[in-house]
Amino acid sequence: MSIATRICELFEIEVPIVLAGMGEASTPALAAAVSNAGGLGVMGAAACSPKRLRRWIREVRELTDRPFGVDTLLPASVRSGGGGGAGAGPSPKELLPAYREIQREFMEREGLPRAKGELDPDDREGPPLFSKEFFDAQMEVVVEEAVPVYAAGLGDPAPWLDRMHRNGTKVISVVGAVRHARKVRDSGVDVIVAQGHDGGGHNATVGTLALIPQVRDAVGDLPVLGAGGITDGRGIAAAMMLGADGVWIGTAFLATEEAGIPDYQKKALVEGIDQSTVVSRSITGKPARLLRTKWTDLWAEREEEPLPMPYQSMISGPIMLAAEAAERPDIFAGFCGQGLGMIHGVRGASEVLAELAGEAESCLRGASRLL
Ligand SMILES: Cc1cc2nc3c(=O)[nH]c(=O)nc-3n(C[C@H](O)[C@H](O)[C@H](O)COP(=O)(O)O)c2cc1C
Repeated sequence: MSIATRICELFEIEVPIVLAGMGEASTPALAAAVSNAGGLGVMGAAACSPKRLRRWIREVRELTDRPFGVDTLLPASVRSGGGGGAGAGPSPKELLPAYREIQREFMEREGLPRAKGELDPDDREGPPLFSKEFFDAQMEVVVEEAVPVYAAGLGDPAPWLDRMHRNGTKVISVVGAVRHARKVRDSGVDVIVAQGHDGGGHNATVGTLALIPQVRDAVGDLPVLGAGGITDGRGIAAAMMLGADGVWIGTAFLATEEAGIPDYQKKALVEGIDQSTVVSRSITGKPARLLRTKWTDLWAEREEEPLPMPYQSMISGPIMLAAEAAERPDIFAGFCGQGLGMIHGVRGASEVLAELAGEAESCLRGASRLL
């Protein structure tokens, strides 16, 4: 393998391919598999309580002696105490009972029994999920454990940067707009991920092809990873032509043996096509690309808007839990990107990584034939 960029030196890895932090799906096992294969495995720890986060970090350290990363969310709206309820009319908290009624009606119509959910014992303690205190407590663990790489999937990690840098932690910020890229550059992050509209999970409005070069031009010499819809080696080569130093890939690693999602969801990914996803606020309250299901259709059709983060998760959470327990791909709206049609089977993560790197290399070599 011979694609090597400054990202390889910075992260001490062999190929400039980073497993994106995907909440619950990028487990310690998946992150370790990618790191052991020469990329950088980043765990999707967004919903991990501080206690489980510490356990995950220790687990990944058992599974690999290579660098790895931790991804969490730091949404500005929640951390500033906003949460979207400042305008006129009832607050999200006041709307909760009416929205719980929508939830109840949907479950009844779909014959979806409430699932108890097997909460990880370590998640039973600590601050409420996605509250300001939750994000702050997660960051304390990230600092205390001195992880090699930290990625902020949303928001600006500025308040923790000095402490992380003193530990030698390299800090990544995921952005979907040039304005945000400039902000986190000024805060002092080490790497910026430019994630376009094509990507799975929370995303912004600008497409990947247009976003990467604009972020590249805006942030001076800072390393940039391209992301969003990059699902095979052709996408990696293209991202590099657009000015990226490497890539941050989610969906392509979802259909792997190590990914922390059930088999029926992996099957839904393999069966998915280019048009299987939509951008919807119906899960977390923020726009996210995910599989179109009856739940996303419900919110596309209703007059009411989904509630802002963190309230919408209180409505969608029990539905997704029940859909997961009942193995209902027609309801479970998993995050994934538009590259879905390029996924043809479930394989080991090291095989996926090797194929991505090999294809990217041959595309880049082949490009000279165009001249
Ligand atoms: C299943 C799934 C879960 C995700 N969860 C998170 C998350 O918890 N935190 C985060 O920063 N990004 C999350 N993302 C976004 C990814 O980090 C990444 O930006 C995205 O997957 C890139 O686009 P791609 O899926 O087309 O490769 C998630 C994406 C997916 C597909």
